[in-house]
Amino acid sequence: MTMPAFTIEPPTYAHTTVMVEQVVGALQPGVGGIYVDATVGGGGHSAALLEACRGARVVAFDRDTDAVAAARERLSAFAERVQVIQSEFADIERHLDDLGITAVDGLVADLGVSSHQLDDSTRGMSFRAEGPLDMRMDLSQGRTARELIEQLSQEELASVIYQYGEERRSRRVARCVKQALRNNELRTTLDLRRAVVRAVGPHRVGGIDPATRTFQALRIAVNEELKAVAAFLRVVHGCLSPGGRVAILTFHSGGDRRVKKAF
Ligand SMILES: C[S@@+](CC[C@H](N)C(=O)[O-])C[C@H]1O[C@@H](n2cnc3c(N)ncnc32)[C@H](O)[C@@H]1O
Repeated sequence: MTMPAFTIEPPTYAHTTVMVEQVVGALQPGVGGIYVDATVGGGGHSAALLEACRGARVVAFDRDTDAVAAARERLSAFAERVQVIQSEFADIERHLDDLGITAVDGLVADLGVSSHQLDDSTRGMSFRAEGPLDMRMDLSQGRTARELIEQLSQEELASVIYQYGEERRSRRVARCVKQALRNNELRTTLDLRRAVVRAVGPHRVGGIDPATRTFQALRIAVNEELKAVAAFLRVVHGCLSPGGRVAILTFHSGGDRRVKKAF
């Protein structure tokens, strides 16, 4: 498979942190407390926890190299009170063990993608600009979106688009995407959007671009996001000290269901 070459410079890291007050209010950081930020992104929630209590410590994780670099820079002023580790959040227990931490007092996870990942066209997560059909959060592992589309059967692709994107016309979309692949017309994000528009038409439905659901579905599948959330939820309880608190922000019905069930 040959991928088109993209030479666009990635943008500087930018993400607007949501529900900062609610997260700090839920975790109530206290002196001597240790808190986990499972999805550090640009470091917004970590910074808020560290600012809210000068005696608190944060161990932060993200699977994305850009996020880890941005968070390390942003949080450097907090010196030894914070550690940023590049890792899957399902592996936090192992990392905490390595640090000699047996239990934490609170944990926040802000699930999904960052604005940076969407804005960086070289990641291929957005249909707003031309980029490679990649979509991986961790560029060092896993299948790209293009590889996934190649490897799934048309029926499997339709099922991914239906389950993770809640796209009613998933079968038609999968057919047009596979057709574009066979015709060698599926190299970039804009090619994928064109294939989806061929299937569902150019009109915005419910105020969103016709390709939104398909892009969301493929991103979730490429990054195995729901599997990661399920694995994470299995370890969360074991990481908490008695009375420990958890705040999880979800933006997708599949993730939301899993979180509520686990609680
Ligand atoms: C919504 S952003 C977090 C933004 C962050 N709270 C802030 O204030 O900047 C979600 C982050 O979670 C990371 N992420 C998603 N799935 C992950 C996983 N399985 N393991 C670790 N990090 C993950 C993404 O790379 C992304 O940086």
